[in-house]
Amino acid sequence: MEAFARDGYSIGKFLSAHRENPMPTITFATEKKEIQVPEGANLRKEALAAGVALYPGIHKIANCHGMGSCGSCRVLITKGMENTNPKGMLEKARLGVSMAYIGNEETMRLACKTKVNGDITVTTCPPVNMFGENFFS
Ligand code: FES
Repeated sequence: MEAFARDGYSIGKFLSAHRENPMPTITFATEKKEIQVPEGANLRKEALAAGVALYPGIHKIANCHGMGSCGSCRVLITKGMENTNPKGMLEKARLGVSMAYIGNEETMRLACKTKVNGDITVTTCPPVNMFGENFFS
């Protein structure tokens, strides 16, 4: 308490700052589940910790464990993409060779390379649209 006051802080300022900046919420649309995470949290780690099935089929076991190389943790960020970190070179390269990326360039991310800085809505295990208008357009 005294340290706060000595440094020019007060409990009131501390509490109001944290009320204004609540923890980001991740909404998993398919699972109808919401979790709150610390700012900057890794989307893959938080999803797995919350019991969200991030990987389809055999990829539950056969994945790169967050190295950004297998592409099986891909998700769609349907709301709040601006609340995530920008895609890095590795993520862009990995997504760029994925059929599922076609037509989803604005919303698709690798969960293992996504930092959550604010509220987002996520669709896990998005299907590959092999015959839809986005594929051939
Ligand atoms: S876990 Fe393999 S790319 Fe994310």
